[in-house]
Amino acid sequence: MLSKVHHVGVVVKSADEALKFYRDALGLTVTADRVIEDQGVRGVLLQIGNSEIELLEPVRDDTGVAKFLASRGEGMHHICFESDDVAKELTDAKARGVELIDQAPRPGLAGMIGFCHPKSNHGVLVEFATPIEGRH
Ligand code: CO
Repeated sequence: MLSKVHHVGVVVKSADEALKFYRDALGLTVTADRVIEDQGVRGVLLQIGNSEIELLEPVRDDTGVAKFLASRGEGMHHICFESDDVAKELTDAKARGVELIDQAPRPGLAGMIGFCHPKSNHGVLVEFATPIEGRH
């Protein structure tokens, strides 16, 4: 079951530059900062209440996030809904006619994750995430 907005993903040219706003000017706390090799991004999570902002900086040119940055510039990239069972969310969404990017969950910055295609979602890239135990 979906329970809340887990995070909003924002594509940036430089996470270090973006941290001057989100961390330094807004005072948000960084809870994760690492390179996700299969996505070709450096991902930085900042906590805001019980939700998060996810900064995505491309580290290679051949990835979806790099192409997004090249064609659309910096800005909002996706919204992520938290679920207790990301595999079931993907299966249920597919059964209801939603086009999936990920047919099965895979590890991401927020836990086990899966994406639905923005074509099915009125132009918004939607992610489901089941966080790792002990983190919200
Ligand atoms: Co995300």
